[in-house]
This record gives sequence, C-alpha cells and structure tokens, in this order.
Amino acid sequence: MNLFDVYPINDITIVKAKGSYVWDDKGEQYLDLYGGHAVISIGHTHPHWVQRIEEQLEKIAFYSNSIRIPLQTELAEKLGRISNKPDYQLFLCNSGAEANENALKLASFHTGRKKIIAFSKSFHGRTSLAVAATDNKNYVAPVNETDNVIFLPFNDEDALEACFKKNSAQIAAVIIEGIQGVGGINIADDDFLRAIRTLCTKHGAVYIADSVQCGYGRSGKFFSHDFAGVNADIYTMAKGMGNGFPVAGIIVAPQIKPKHFQLGTTFGGNHLACAAALAVLEIIEEEKLMGNAVMVGKYLRDELSAISELDNVRGRGLMIGFDVPESLKDLRKNLLWEQKIFTGEAKPNVIRLLPSLALKKRDAEQFIDSIKESISALSA
Ligand SMILES: Cc1ncc(COP(=O)(O)O)c(C=O)c1O
Repeated sequence: MNLFDVYPINDITIVKAKGSYVWDDKGEQYLDLYGGHAVISIGHTHPHWVQRIEEQLEKIAFYSNSIRIPLQTELAEKLGRISNKPDYQLFLCNSGAEANENALKLASFHTGRKKIIAFSKSFHGRTSLAVAATDNKNYVAPVNETDNVIFLPFNDEDALEACFKKNSAQIAAVIIEGIQGVGGINIADDDFLRAIRTLCTKHGAVYIADSVQCGYGRSGKFFSHDFAGVNADIYTMAKGMGNGFPVAGIIVAPQIKPKHFQLGTTFGGNHLACAAALAVLEIIEEEKLMGNAVMVGKYLRDELSAISELDNVRGRGLMIGFDVPESLKDLRKNLLWEQKIFTGEAKPNVIRLLPSLALKKRDAEQFIDSIKESISALSA
C-alpha cells in the first residue's frame, strides 16, 4: 500500500530529537526553529515529559469518558491557574480542528444562531465547520460550502461593526487567531480584539479565540489574545499543549453552561494525553518558558530587523515572521540544506519561526549568523 500523497515533503528522515535539535538517519544534526509546526513547546523529548508519559503508560493509558479521570481535573486546575482563567471550564479533544469545531458548535448551541464571522487569511483547520471558516478555497470541499460563514477583512473595525449592525440577531460567533499563523504571522490589533469583545457582548454573540498556534505561551503571554486585556468566551488550544502528544481542548467561560451529550469524544482527555499535557504545563511554569519566549523572541526580532535584506519582521514572543524578497526566494531551502536549520513558511514569501519556547539564546545567535551567511551566499 502507498501513502496517500497529500504533502510535499523534504527528503529527510528524522530519527532522534532533543531540546531544539533533531538528527537524521545519517547522523546529521539540525536546529529546529519550526518546532514540527509550532507543536514542540517545551523542547523535544524533555526528560520530565518522557518520564510522566512512561509512568502513566505503566498504570493506564486509556479509559472512556464514562468514568472519573482525576488527571483531567488536575489539568483543568493547573491550566486555569497558569492561563489566569480559573473560572473557565475545560473540554478535552484531540486536534486543533476538532477544538474549533467544538467551539463553533457550542457557540451555535448556546446562542441558537447559525452565522459565524471569520477573517481574511484565517486558518482554523480542515474539518467541516473549521474549514468553512478558513479563508482558503483549496481546502474547502463542495460539501463544506456554506453561507453561514461571513468573511470580513482582518483588523477592520468598521466592517465588523457594519456586519453586526446588519446581521445582529443571527451571529453566533466571531472566531479569530490572536496572531494568524498559516496566513503569514499577522497580529490582530489589540483595539480590534477589544472591539470584537464589545460587539459580541452587545449583540449576544460568542467570541472564540483560536489559540491553536499562537497560544500556550508562544507569544510570551499564555494566550496571545491576552495582550488586548479582554477575555474571549472560548479559547481553543492544541499544538503546544502536548509537546507532540496529540491533545487539544477548549476552555469555556462560566456563563456558557454545559448540557449532556452536546459535545463528546472517545479519545479526548485520555489518561496518557492528560499526563503529557500536565508535564508541559509543569515545565512551562518551572522553567519560566513564557519569559524565555519574550527574551529570546525579542533578541531574534531585533537582530532580524537589522538585516537590511529582510522586510517587515513581526510577531510576538517566539512566533515570528518576516518577508523574503524575490531575489532571496531560496533562502529557506538554503537554511535547511546548507545550514541545517528547519524553519516554517507561509505563502508566498514569508519565513515563519515557531521554535520550542525553551530555545536558548546561543541557538538564536547561531541562527542569526547562519541566516546572514545564507543571505551572503545567495546574494553573491
Ligand atoms: C490557528 C490554527 N487553528 C487550527 C489549526 C488546526 O489544527 P490541527 O491541524 O491540529 O487540526 C491550525 C493548524 O495549523 C492552526 O494553525
């Protein structure tokens, strides 16, 4: 049987990983500034994470959500404290798309309404509602097409206000990434997020903060939406939550009450996933990784901004993007094949940095030296 060929891949086989480094089957070492697509939060194979999972595996890996799972309660308590949303309620699932799917569905249940506002260049996942709220026609199959999603320009308060005015009684939710990832590292203005909060409250709609990529400390705050100083009604989380173990969830504000059977999952919140998620939070707290993301992120943005060939260096914490001119279009390839550094991209010309939040300053320095070398080589 062949693999169903949905991804263009690099011809590299990674067999080992530690911290911010990975190694291929030929023993070649790579610096990982891509984090397996923003997934590696505390560093590859962190010993505490490995130990927590191994110990849990020896006890019990899975039982269904029909019984008490104290690890879920422990995770909810810790997440509530670290995210500073102690009165929110946690629902666990398995992926970012599933988290957004559940958030949108819950908003519709809660309001009894059907319309969703999403924004240009958004990415919310590949399942039916999540992909319908994603601004990329290539991902939307005919069966996903719906007129229940209204796309508005990103960061445009007037358009948002006008839309609410026109459709006030129909809007169930507004969904927005605090920093757009796939769309190319575009920061939602703090004022824009505050306007979403005000308009959702005024018109009885649910504010959904998609924190799948920009969440879990990556921006230097637990949720990047926190920079605006207002609370969303639902936050969706995945990627960094398990440091590579598949675990995701939504946290729901107290005014939204649960009803039995509206949401559900077989695998979500299993014992092993909770152990992985707890290990991640323990390390984020113990090793002060949000502070590290602020410090190393600032260093990277400052240094990258000083490189005249790169444009529009932007981001928060360790979620960073910059534009690459046409003359350096092979920069990312050069970084990978010559400098042995993984980075991310966003079409058409953005390099994205999404490393572990434990990235060391000396690794960031190595990257800056390497990118300068690559630029010189490509400019020669
Ligand atoms: C902002 C955002 N939301 C949702 C998703 C979907 O997550 P998953 O691939 O885990 O379904 C992604 C994935 O890249 C994302 O970046």
